[in-house]
Amino acid sequence: MKRKVTKAIFPVAGQGTRFLPATKAVPKEIMTLVDRPLIQYAIDEARAAGIKEFIFVTSRGKSALEDYFDHAPQLEQSLRKKGKTELLDTLKSTNMDSGAIAYIRQHQALGLGHAVWCARRLIANEPFAVILPDDVIAAEKPCLQQMVEAYEETGGSMVAAMEVPQDKTSSYGVLDVKDDMGSLVSVNGMVEKPAAADAPSNLAVIGRYILTPTVLQNLNKMKSGAGGEIQLTDAIAQELTEGRDVFGMRFRGQRFDCGSKAGFLQATVAFGLARDDLRDEFMGFLDEMSALRAAAQ
Ligand code: UTP
Repeated sequence: MKRKVTKAIFPVAGQGTRFLPATKAVPKEIMTLVDRPLIQYAIDEARAAGIKEFIFVTSRGKSALEDYFDHAPQLEQSLRKKGKTELLDTLKSTNMDSGAIAYIRQHQALGLGHAVWCARRLIANEPFAVILPDDVIAAEKPCLQQMVEAYEETGGSMVAAMEVPQDKTSSYGVLDVKDDMGSLVSVNGMVEKPAAADAPSNLAVIGRYILTPTVLQNLNKMKSGAGGEIQLTDAIAQELTEGRDVFGMRFRGQRFDCGSKAGFLQATVAFGLARDDLRDEFMGFLDEMSALRAAAQ
């Protein structure tokens, strides 16, 4: 049975240790690319894909996220008084309809699989999307929208996938490909963080998923896997064991790993250069920096 995907889970309960000390006080998802926090990119992508219910799995210290999506009456009033309509419009994109957003606490950081499982009662018996906000994807058609369109044809569960260098497979869930159909692949199995020599392919899973509710049932039975965490990959792989389909989608777009410092910096440059209001000045600065660097060598 195929159904429309209208719910998305945003697991944001991680500690973000790679960005300490910043993440001691600021949730990673509130860190900004140019002038918008990571979470805003994720929400915009979900909205474009037709998501209507937004479920955040949070943890202690993440209340800035709840404030971010709340209305800010004083600020709005002061902008209105000053006639700053453009800024008011910008603020509107951060507001959520009442009842469209829910927050669930993950009381212990037991892994991504566990974070998704924490939202099980809000998902009930529907297919749902999972978006990891630290994977930011620049694409003409937003990645999740590409996946939802493909899912409407295939059913089953679907993960976003991209080719990575063989020596990087140990940082990802990796697909064992059954049938390569181009942008879609069907999957025989999935391995979490395999050493290069053991990786079944170099097609890696990144942070976008469309999952059937049976994955939640699999998570009910899950014990901790790689790294002592409850792995979402294991629960998806269980679908295959039980004879259900799993697909990987080679999305069109560029993914930035904003969970890492290098990825975050790269995204900042790419998104800065994509902005009409910043491009010329920023490009001039980058040119200057490279010239200085070349001269110093
Ligand atoms: P990461 O592996 O990036 O972990 O989690 P992290 O804690 O956010 O960051 P580092 O590695 O310490 O720097 C991938 C995604 O899964 C969520 C994170 O919030 C992030 O969106 N997650 C991870 C949870 O929600 N709960 C967990 O127990 C683990």
